[in-house]
Amino acid sequence: MKVSVIGAGNVGATIANVIVQKNFAGEVVLLDIREGYAEGKAMDMNQASTILGSFTKVTGVTNDYEATANSKVIVVTSGIPRKPGMTREELLGTNAKIVKDVVSQALKYSPDAVFIIISNPMDAMTYLTIKETGLPRNRVLGLGGMLDSARFKYYITEALRAEGIDASLTDVEGMVIGGHNDKTMVPLIKYASYRGIPVTNLINWDIILDAARKTKVGGATLTSLIGTSAWYAPGAAVATLVEAIVTDAKKLIPCCVYLDGEYGQKDVCIGVPVVMGENGAEKIVDINLDGPEYKFFNASVEAARETNRLLAEVLSAAKDK
Ligand code: APR
Repeated sequence: MKVSVIGAGNVGATIANVIVQKNFAGEVVLLDIREGYAEGKAMDMNQASTILGSFTKVTGVTNDYEATANSKVIVVTSGIPRKPGMTREELLGTNAKIVKDVVSQALKYSPDAVFIIISNPMDAMTYLTIKETGLPRNRVLGLGGMLDSARFKYYITEALRAEGIDASLTDVEGMVIGGHNDKTMVPLIKYASYRGIPVTNLINWDIILDAARKTKVGGATLTSLIGTSAWYAPGAAVATLVEAIVTDAKKLIPCCVYLDGEYGQKDVCIGVPVVMGENGAEKIVDINLDGPEYKFFNASVEAARETNRLLAEVLSAAKDK
């Protein structure tokens, strides 16, 4: 089965590399506009496979969409990343043009593909893709929640360790829903657990709140340390999502999808738990939020709607030019 990744930069190349090392796809096509760039990255990955033993072939191309034909999944990472001090929303105008163009070209050659949008601001870019393509909503997803959940699990593990429990990173469960946005994402504190034990039974509330606070600014923290946005955890998250679709794994993954009544919301793309299988987003799991989570989720939806409104303005101003 073929998977195409558009944009061979930090995030796109890492996604391709993790897919190759997970060894579940026949071919990965990596496409970039920079002449020779995707070709070089593909060559490097194929050489690594002779050592690490993956059968997945990587093909790198410069803007050649024909090479992506009949992909099962198209991952869109093309666009600019944020710099220290920037919000994801500041990338809106530039990335909207790129995402629109890339999706329409890829769709011509892979009319049945599932699209996964990574370019930021991701929730708005996912909404744009749904509106521009008219594709059924199970075939357009955005990835943010799985990455934010990984950061939440990391900070909870750190908190457990600071409290004297030398926890493994793989023993902590936690989920973040809502927008992929520093201010409004919603870490679901009451469901966070250490091998099924609620973390609220193990560490005190202030420490858990601090882990949630650090999660929300997790992307910005990395951007200020590295000078650009992160790629290892995003690459691992997206490759795992792609694997769930290609292998029809029915995994529950927090993902950005178009809501049509679920969570009491319509006509917005936002992060919620979704069962992922061969048809993409197969089932939205509505967890009947209440209390602060309900309030925070609705505020997050409002922020996403505001970005969508800005997006509409940006697109109509571009049309008038
Ligand atoms: N078609 C194909 N590739 C493109 C296009 C286009 N129209 N425009 C830009 N690109 C490519 C660039 O040439 C570059 O190689 O997209 C790649 C982006 O890579 P980086 O600059 O390294 O950015 P990265 O860190 O990978 O982030 C990409 O993902 O997480 C988000 O906020 C992030 O929006 C950003 C995106």
